[in-house]
Amino acid sequence: MSQEHNPVVGEGPLETLVRITFAFVDSMALKCIVDLGIADIIHAHGHPISVSEICAHLKSHPPNFRCLKRVMQILVHRDIFTTVNVNPTEFNEDDTLYWLTPASRLLLRHDDDDISYAPMILMQNHPQLLAAMHHLSSAIKEGGIAFEMAHGHHIWEFLSRDQEVNRVFHDGLACTAKIGFRAITSLYKDVFADVKSVVDVGGGTGAAVNEVVKAFPNIKGINFDLPHVIAIAPKYDGVAHVEGNMFEAIPDADVAILKSILHDWNDEDCVKILKNCQKAVPEKTGKLILFELILHKEGEESMEGILLASDLIMIAHTGGGKERTEPEYKSLLQTAGFPRYRLLSNPGIPSIIEAFVE
Ligand SMILES: C[S@@+](CC[C@H](N)C(=O)[O-])C[C@H]1O[C@@H](n2cnc3c(N)ncnc32)[C@H](O)[C@@H]1O
Repeated sequence: MSQEHNPVVGEGPLETLVRITFAFVDSMALKCIVDLGIADIIHAHGHPISVSEICAHLKSHPPNFRCLKRVMQILVHRDIFTTVNVNPTEFNEDDTLYWLTPASRLLLRHDDDDISYAPMILMQNHPQLLAAMHHLSSAIKEGGIAFEMAHGHHIWEFLSRDQEVNRVFHDGLACTAKIGFRAITSLYKDVFADVKSVVDVGGGTGAAVNEVVKAFPNIKGINFDLPHVIAIAPKYDGVAHVEGNMFEAIPDADVAILKSILHDWNDEDCVKILKNCQKAVPEKTGKLILFELILHKEGEESMEGILLASDLIMIAHTGGGKERTEPEYKSLLQTAGFPRYRLLSNPGIPSIIEAFVE
């Protein structure tokens, strides 16, 4: 067999397949250290520590030192942790000390109001949510929705019946809402000038609207979602939690927010939601803040990979949902009564559209 025809030799198709096949190991290793609170344990020490010292903090008898060591090794390789070797001349399994990188600092769980990405990692890798992905091929063959094939219910119905997954799902989204809206409220203060009230439509547990109200205490915040979500929403000063159905009516406010909503629905449903937002905001001065993944610049390859991944999750979870391009959002907005918009750039991944009724 010539080298040219031997898929096992050299870099190429086999390497591509191996890399993709084993990609799940990275996510699982990350989830493992978030489950165990490893970044917090290291951080609490204030200096690099060994795996034995980490193990001393785990409430298990006895912790599996060798397994944790392997998990730490792969995450050092992925720049989640960094190492210091205290005894480079002799080999001792416990001579390596582990410390945080900027990425693992983002996993710290804070008592205060600081940002942690840990809940999003737990959500995306939750077995019940991942289960839908195992049904993609059946959904293609049989024409159904992967999530329903896995759980027997549509995602929102399923979450209303399972309190544990409901909480994990909404904690995950709340952390991205907090990150996103902390950025918007500091970068785009003009968006909130002269605004007296905002309603976050499908706002989850209210993290986004809480950021708006904290940054602009004169604004009255409304967090609007289904009853099983409002039931687990924490109390925030200046935010009223209101339960209801966005396909029926949305509480009135100067500004409506839609974060990670339209990507859950097909075009027809998006137009219904947008029309109800249009009715909820003032006739002349009303506006909408749309916060979604939007591919708007040519050649953003790293963005495109994330967008395609999220697009697949949307179809697996909801059936009709999808990620959209800027022209696709423009068309939905115009159909629903938002003829004018501006695209705001965001240093994070999602993009923001500020759309106006006039
Ligand atoms: C992907 S989550 C986004 C949550 C939040 N906007 C965020 O990004 O953190 C979609 C939200 O839409 C809500 N939702 C679904 N159907 C709804 C309906 N008919 N009326 C109101 N909210 C709804 C869900 O309960 C969920 O909180």
